[in-house]
Amino acid sequence: MQRRRFLTLSAAAAASAALPLAARATVPKPYSWDAGPPMDSAVSFIRWMVENRGEEPRYLRARFERFQNMVGHVDLWEARNKRAFLMTPRDEFCLPSDRGVIYDVNYHSIGFGVTITGPRVVGRMTSSIDVKMGEKVLEIGTGSGYQSAYLSNLTDKVWTIEIIKPLAERTRALHDALIARGYTEFKSINSKQADGYYGWQEAGPFDKIIVTCGIDHIPPPLLQQLKTGGIMVIPVGPPGAQHILKVVKEETGGQIAVKRSDIYRGMPVPFVPFTKLEGDNIKGTHFGKR
Ligand SMILES: C[S@@+](CC[C@H](N)C(=O)[O-])C[C@H]1O[C@@H](n2cnc3c(N)ncnc32)[C@H](O)[C@@H]1O
Repeated sequence: MQRRRFLTLSAAAAASAALPLAARATVPKPYSWDAGPPMDSAVSFIRWMVENRGEEPRYLRARFERFQNMVGHVDLWEARNKRAFLMTPRDEFCLPSDRGVIYDVNYHSIGFGVTITGPRVVGRMTSSIDVKMGEKVLEIGTGSGYQSAYLSNLTDKVWTIEIIKPLAERTRALHDALIARGYTEFKSINSKQADGYYGWQEAGPFDKIIVTCGIDHIPPPLLQQLKTGGIMVIPVGPPGAQHILKVVKEETGGQIAVKRSDIYRGMPVPFVPFTKLEGDNIKGTHFGKR
């Protein structure tokens, strides 16, 4: 069962109260898949975004500078992902006290002992799965909601699972508040609170899967819910030192084969652990299970 709006009104109010939503502008023009900002200069980018998206120049400047840095480091390498990065207001998905630093390279705390992943890692992981319009994408680890918002600028079919209930509720309330302000692309995001180890069977199979918490193996249910020809990115390795693997599920001669490559060519990247639900409680992790 899809639960895009799984909050009751009172739960939504309580969750949004936990992350004060600043009174920010509404989006002045309707979203269009055919429209995107200029990428050639900060001035023309900021002007377009102010006119079309009603966003604040100080955050837009920081976004554009990070964009140029990411293109230079080959974290973004084709037009659709470049547009998606530039269109996604990362400064809406952090703690208010972090707005001034949210375009720096680091991950940042979002409360509940978890983090919003750094922009370069988000850009490289998302570019690696090469999401095309209309493809079905599953994200494990909704966290701040930034990654799913970015995905909704690439396709109109996004599913995301978060294990921490109050965080899942807070982020759903944030997505809904942003939709009400005119970010209608976020209507494509389907959310639920659950243990993402088991994927989202009823919504699958998926063209692409992106896992944003670290584990020491590829969860078999996720591989099973990935279409043949599909691509998954997943941080795999010991606690705090994963390698981000690109996993391609292929069929050759009637046999399913899984091809893996490291998107950072050997450099470990730490992720928060892939935790486990027992009943309603988070207890330990899925490490060591096959
Ligand atoms: C690095 S953080 C969030 C990154 C997120 N994609 C974003 O844009 O902010 C990883 C998230 O994975 C969640 N998580 C950990 N284990 C999980 C599980 N078994 N199922 C679903 N989410 C899980 C954590 O609670 C955390 O919110």
